[in-house]
Amino acid sequence: MNKNWKPSSWREKKAKHLPNYSDEKALNLITNKLTAYPPLVFAGESRNLLKQLGDVANGKAFLLQGGDCAESFADFNPNNIRDSFKVMLQMAVVLTYGASCPVVKVGRIAGQFAKPRSQDTEKLDNLELESYKGDIINGIDFNEKSRTADPKRLIQAYNQSAATLNLLRAFAQGGFANLKQIHQWNLSFADDNQYKKRFEDMANRIDECLTFMEACGINDENVRQMNETDFYTSHEALLLPYEEALTRVDSTTGLWYDVSAHMLWVGDRTRQLDGAHIEFIKGIENPIGIKVGPSTEVSELLKIIEVVNPNNIPGRVTLICRMGADKISSILPQIIREVSKTDYKVVWACDPMHGNTIKSNTGYKTRPLTNIISEIEQFFKIHRSEGTYPGGIHLEMTGQDVTECIGGIREVTEDDLKSRYHTYCDPRLNASQSLELAFILSDFLKDERIRLQQSSNL
Ligand code: PEP
Ligand code: CO
Repeated sequence: MNKNWKPSSWREKKAKHLPNYSDEKALNLITNKLTAYPPLVFAGESRNLLKQLGDVANGKAFLLQGGDCAESFADFNPNNIRDSFKVMLQMAVVLTYGASCPVVKVGRIAGQFAKPRSQDTEKLDNLELESYKGDIINGIDFNEKSRTADPKRLIQAYNQSAATLNLLRAFAQGGFANLKQIHQWNLSFADDNQYKKRFEDMANRIDECLTFMEACGINDENVRQMNETDFYTSHEALLLPYEEALTRVDSTTGLWYDVSAHMLWVGDRTRQLDGAHIEFIKGIENPIGIKVGPSTEVSELLKIIEVVNPNNIPGRVTLICRMGADKISSILPQIIREVSKTDYKVVWACDPMHGNTIKSNTGYKTRPLTNIISEIEQFFKIHRSEGTYPGGIHLEMTGQDVTECIGGIREVTEDDLKSRYHTYCDPRLNASQSLELAFILSDFLKDERIRLQQSSNL
């Protein structure tokens, strides 16, 4: 631990994408209040995640990270949380079964409220206001009051995160995630299609295995993993006054943990080596993600890894690569090579969403599923040729039947986008597209696992 580091050390550095609060005093009152609130997660849970991500870094597990681009106060309801959880469970079981590989599940949930925006302000009919920056900062409605950063929103975000986590813990540990419930995880609205059917077939085979194992005396009463699951939370550590207020010394180890989520990541726009966000996350012990976009300078990235993970703990750093299907093959191999020349242990994850955003002819921000799949496929191929392990996927997705990304077997066309375009920020995969992607991914991962096994048998 760096003895000179404090949760407020970031204040000495240049911070990008932080809102201007007109009433600094009001903000301080709120953050002081938050400092006394209970932690949302327990440091020991973050350590468990670190260990599991260490397995990913060593090629023994796969990271599935996903959820909303931005959670919202308006869409806060139990069905949304349940359906996001269901689709993550479905995807995880497809990957575990298809590729015989343990899956570490991390939601972009229970705290994913703050957004960096490419434009600081938005103009409409001669009126210029602050851009919408996520519900923890300001409101999406285009009027002066709503777009003014309001510190009280930090408390609402904290409360919503606490209630969301409470339900997630109940789902993960209260029987809903029991493998015997697998048929209940198929989302009812999805029409019959080849992937829904494929999931049902797989669920039937898993049922048969469970019956066989039960006959052998192995059941959900004596094997915890059959009855419950580990589900972790994560969000972008963007709004530093909030993260600072929730950073505490863990009484077990005496080390600093940000107890707002198990894992935190730094976005592509705020990952400057000498910036406030890197300064903040280097001092907390949680597993850390770093977004790696096309503008990444490899030499700077290597220094960031060194500062964030000086003890080279496997699982501490996940590099979330988000290049775009048209750029990944010209940029990623060089980055992998430079990182591989060092002995840094990192998790390589692919975010195939943020580099593939386009504007549809109908004016919506969207992402074509074909480009998303193409980036993932190239990600796997590049790692194969570099001899490194493609350890994870980072998705913007929802359990709802939205029409935000185009394509898929239940095809969403450009004309369909207007019918259920509900996102507060970037377009998400709907439940059916997420399941489809999980099957495609499980085929890529299976090939990779076979190759790994063959090389370890040599
Ligand atoms: C995000 O994950 O929602 C995001 C803003 O990503 P990035 O920092 O990679 O642009
Ligand atoms: Co996004």
